[in-house]
Amino acid sequence: MISQETIDAIFQATHIEDVVEEFVHLTKRGVNLKGLCPFHDEKTPSFTVSPARNIYKCFGCGKGGNAVNFLMEHEGMSYPEALRYLAKKYNIEIAETQMPEEYEAEKQERDSLYLINEYAKEFYRNQLFNTDLGKSIGLSYFRERGLLRKTIDAFELGYATTSRDELTKSAVHDGYNIEFLRKLGLTTEQDRDFFFNRVMFPIHNLSGKVVAFAGRHLVTDKKSPKYINSKESDIYHKSKVLYGLHLAKKAIRKEDFCLLVEGYTDVLSLHQSGIENVVASSGTSLTVEQVKLIKRYTQQIRILYDGDTAGIKAATRGIDLVLEQDMNVELVLLPEGEDPDSYIKSVGVTEFKEYLEREASDFILFKTNLILKEAGNDPVKKAGLIKDIILSLAHIPDPIKRSVYTRQCAELLKVEESILVNETNKVVSKRLRDNRISQLRENRSDHEIQEKILEKERKKAVAENWQEEKTGTDEYQERDIVRILILYGDRQIEVEKEKLTIAQYVLSEIQETLPFFDNPLYAKIVTEYGLALSEGKQLNTDHFIRSADSEISSLAIELCSSPYELSENWQKMWDIRLETQPMPDENEIQDAFQALYRFLLRKYQKMSEENLKQIKEFQSNGDDESLLKHLQVQTMLVDQRNKIAGKLNTVIL
Ligand code: UTP
Ligand code: MN
Repeated sequence: MISQETIDAIFQATHIEDVVEEFVHLTKRGVNLKGLCPFHDEKTPSFTVSPARNIYKCFGCGKGGNAVNFLMEHEGMSYPEALRYLAKKYNIEIAETQMPEEYEAEKQERDSLYLINEYAKEFYRNQLFNTDLGKSIGLSYFRERGLLRKTIDAFELGYATTSRDELTKSAVHDGYNIEFLRKLGLTTEQDRDFFFNRVMFPIHNLSGKVVAFAGRHLVTDKKSPKYINSKESDIYHKSKVLYGLHLAKKAIRKEDFCLLVEGYTDVLSLHQSGIENVVASSGTSLTVEQVKLIKRYTQQIRILYDGDTAGIKAATRGIDLVLEQDMNVELVLLPEGEDPDSYIKSVGVTEFKEYLEREASDFILFKTNLILKEAGNDPVKKAGLIKDIILSLAHIPDPIKRSVYTRQCAELLKVEESILVNETNKVVSKRLRDNRISQLRENRSDHEIQEKILEKERKKAVAENWQEEKTGTDEYQERDIVRILILYGDRQIEVEKEKLTIAQYVLSEIQETLPFFDNPLYAKIVTEYGLALSEGKQLNTDHFIRSADSEISSLAIELCSSPYELSENWQKMWDIRLETQPMPDENEIQDAFQALYRFLLRKYQKMSEENLKQIKEFQSNGDDESLLKHLQVQTMLVDQRNKIAGKLNTVIL
């Protein structure tokens, strides 16, 4: 293990901007650097790097952290890998601490397993290229399938000969532990080779190490399965691996989408044709872990199904999984009897790509088509199908997207669009109503309960403020700003003779504080609002309620329906007289200004506290020059703070 001293030294030496700049183009904006976020698709930069704080934060997707987090997230490194990377970059020698024995043993075992797989891989490669059988059977099979040498090399394909124990014998002879060979499933309990007379496909992990093998038989023998795989081991969990991802990850990020195919050979074939953003789930139906792996690199998945209906139903089940991960899924069904490998060979890359573009359909349309085929002309089945589709449509949060789908589904189902619209709207509004009613029930059912709830809310707010005092976060104030934006952002106001919306005013005032939001969800909302305004779009409450992002929509709903949130604790905290607390609906403009000033007050207060700490330090170590500078800053901060406090009082009066 890397010692704590080394870790500290690494963090001290690291400049976040150096690290990020290797992967993202950054430009200077004030004290920060900005660039296009590598973690989500965007056209205006909201990815911010703060050299002062040594952190990055994206206000579009909310991702943020330090240099180590960045490398883990962006490059898929593990924590120690990221530390080693940085140590190398900054020439820091790594001191290892003694590992706990058990851990040491476990690690040694894992290393041995990797080494053996590496050995086996080389063994199979050697057999493929340098033995008669390998050349005449294995290699000629690959050639027949149109695989070039460079593809065979890139995927490290190999061949296991007809001998039943050559690998095992050779490995043992070379000093490898037969126990480990068994653990990897390369050697059977009878000490024979598990794979023989098969072409071999190594399965790699993200960093390109071989974790398992798949072997394809070369004789069409109905008795043995076409592919057999290594069993699961300490280094191979098949639900967590995607075939080809180690070679595809770069292209997936670049293209910002991932093609998912069924077979190993599909991956090889597309890769060879220059379509490199392709992976296969290799024998299992898609798992959550696999989706999460892809999500590291992109939000878009396009799933290609072989043109036989066999696997399709199983696969459509997997899609909920992808949707739950908040990813966009498109499905493509290949022509009957084709798989990606055969189809790209028969029509060529250009037509293949065109086919994907043309045929890619969103999951709802795909589902419609699929069940439509099943229902045929049976009217009862068709009615059931329509209900089913309506429920799916109602799940689409974005109203524009929903109406597009509704129209397309109506066409496919050959029903009046208006029927579908009405029915879907019923479901949607029932859902919204249910939400609101349950909120109202909690909050406003009758006066007495309401009083109790208000009391409870107040206590909670006090508790939150205590919490916040302890942890020093500004979440409460940030929430207040978000509340104003969501509820009243679109109201017109006049400031110094200029007509503008509350959102325009608030956002212009808090611009500087954006990189320092403590709560990523609130930061995301503020950023989204800012981007919309910069594109000339004004958002409103409904926009947030309908947001595709369920965190945002539930927050918006909460803000709409919960009683006035402002806690009287403000009064105590800032020693400011809040004489009345008008309900926000009565005077949203006043409310907006108050929220804004409270927010700014808090930020200035914090800054001056920080500054004061430094002043004390300089006083004690006699650094007069710095002391003077910070005293000046202090005067300015206190001035600002008082000005804002003054404004707050004016607003209140
Ligand atoms: P396919 O039968 O479509 O195989 O199964 P393929 O990859 O197109 O292979 P070729 O073109 O016939 O050589 C698709 C995937 O299903 C899994 C494998 O991951 C395969 O790539 N599979 C299939 C198995 O795991 N075992 C089998 O017996 C068959
Ligand atoms: Mn296939």
